[in-house]
Amino acid sequence: MTPPTPPYSADPTENPSPDLGNGMLISFEGIDGAGKSTHIGALAKAFAQQGRIVRMTREPGGTPLAEQLRVLVLHEKMDPLTEALLIFAGRREHIKNVILPALARGEVVLCDRFTDASFAYQGGGRGFDVGILQTLENWVQQHPQHPQSLLQPHLTIWFDIPAEVAASRLVRSRVPDKFESETPAFFEKVSKAYAARMALDPKRFAKINANQSMEAVRAELLAALYERKILNQQQQMSE
Ligand code: TYD
Repeated sequence: MTPPTPPYSADPTENPSPDLGNGMLISFEGIDGAGKSTHIGALAKAFAQQGRIVRMTREPGGTPLAEQLRVLVLHEKMDPLTEALLIFAGRREHIKNVILPALARGEVVLCDRFTDASFAYQGGGRGFDVGILQTLENWVQQHPQHPQSLLQPHLTIWFDIPAEVAASRLVRSRVPDKFESETPAFFEKVSKAYAARMALDPKRFAKINANQSMEAVRAELLAALYERKILNQQQQMSE
């Protein structure tokens, strides 16, 4: 069977999906401690300065129901299939109630993690069956108007950082959740799985070296967005 094609062109300068408006979905990925959250806020400001309406959201979560599922997923021990089912159940709610309506209104949706995290954490970190994850992805991300296609981000920013560097950053932060308490070996597997996802769809990904100063990471992130003409280079990104 040929894999379903994304509904959106990988080239965001085209207007890929008139039936869902010219909205844009950008996801942000990386192991815990990679430092992505700070950059998402700054990017939201940069898009807003260019006149775009921005919707910042996250997974697990993004709707009241999915946020309740997030609490369970992040804090309760459970069977790996149960964990995957809860994550994809939340994703379904999020896509139907938040992401698709925002895209149809032409908004920029900045999503702190999306399905690549399931392949990385559940598939890579936990060693959970990737075939089941693919089945869940096919069910949950089926395009409403094109059942043969999957909803995928236009662009995925992957903040890449060695597991031991990320771990040393986490030590200094708050009380760890279930995933943040995992070992460096777990996060090495997560990183490998992100790399494997990127290899399957390289045009969708921008890999950023997160093992440098905040300013240098921001510069690399901006360069990736300018290069793809997602942000206008004249516009400066504010702090
Ligand atoms: P995270 O972005 O780290 O939230 P915060 O910055 O508030 O700690 O995401 C929460 C955790 O959820 C993270 O450790 C990865 C995990 N996760 C999965 O295991 N699978 C998934 O599909 C998603 C979206 C997240």
